[in-house]
Amino acid sequence: MREATSLLLPDGPDGEARRAALIRDRLTLQPPPGLAGTGLCDLKLYRAGPSSGLSKLVGSVAPYWAHPWAGGLALARYMAERPDAVAGRHVLDLGTGGGLVAIAAALMGAASVTGIDIDAWAISAARLNADANGVGARFLQGDVADVALAGVDMILVGDLFYDKDLADTVSVVLASAVSRGIPVLVGDPGRKPLPRVHLLDVVEYPVADVGDPPGTASATGRVSRWV
Ligand SMILES: C[S@@+](CC[C@H](N)C(=O)[O-])C[C@H]1O[C@@H](n2cnc3c(N)ncnc32)[C@H](O)[C@@H]1O
Repeated sequence: MREATSLLLPDGPDGEARRAALIRDRLTLQPPPGLAGTGLCDLKLYRAGPSSGLSKLVGSVAPYWAHPWAGGLALARYMAERPDAVAGRHVLDLGTGGGLVAIAAALMGAASVTGIDIDAWAISAARLNADANGVGARFLQGDVADVALAGVDMILVGDLFYDKDLADTVSVVLASAVSRGIPVLVGDPGRKPLPRVHLLDVVEYPVADVGDPPGTASATGRVSRWV
């Protein structure tokens, strides 16, 4: 049996290395659901399973980064079908989690990709996932509220509207981006705080939500343009 208590919150100077070692040890590289047969069929992510023991590892912060989310899966599928949506763009992925959307954008030909997330574990996981997929995306820990838009010409948002306060913050950032002419694509399965009034739907797919049994897709993931 693994000793978990000594593994809690590995911050400090070697925090990144310790988080990476734990992710490699506890999670397994697997394809996200719903991308077989697409241009992203080879994409793999470190994903949690029942024996990963994540709650003991990460303490009170939910390990959102350990799962591909329905909104991110819809965006990834859209990029696989329409690489022209991101090819050649300088992409910013807000709330990158394990980096699904950022890595998909890089694989589909984005000129550069930066993913940001407030959770240090997400950044560690996203960096490992980028390495595993052979892409050079950059991942930075930070709050969407403080994001800088200089040099960005496309914003992607996968499943970041699950909380009302967060949705309000993200909405301010996206409105500012669009007012500067930066296009924004949102992938979301219709979480309650999603501000539908700002969204012009582009496409929808059946997608797996976190907790769905393998091979099932209980959610409808919409890709929409922020207007
Ligand atoms: C539901 S997950 C989605 C992850 C990924 N985009 C996907 O679709 O698979 C939301 C992510 O947003 C991050 N997040 C939450 N609040 C944030 C904030 N204020 N600034 C940056 N990231 C945030 C969380 O840590 C989490 O990794």
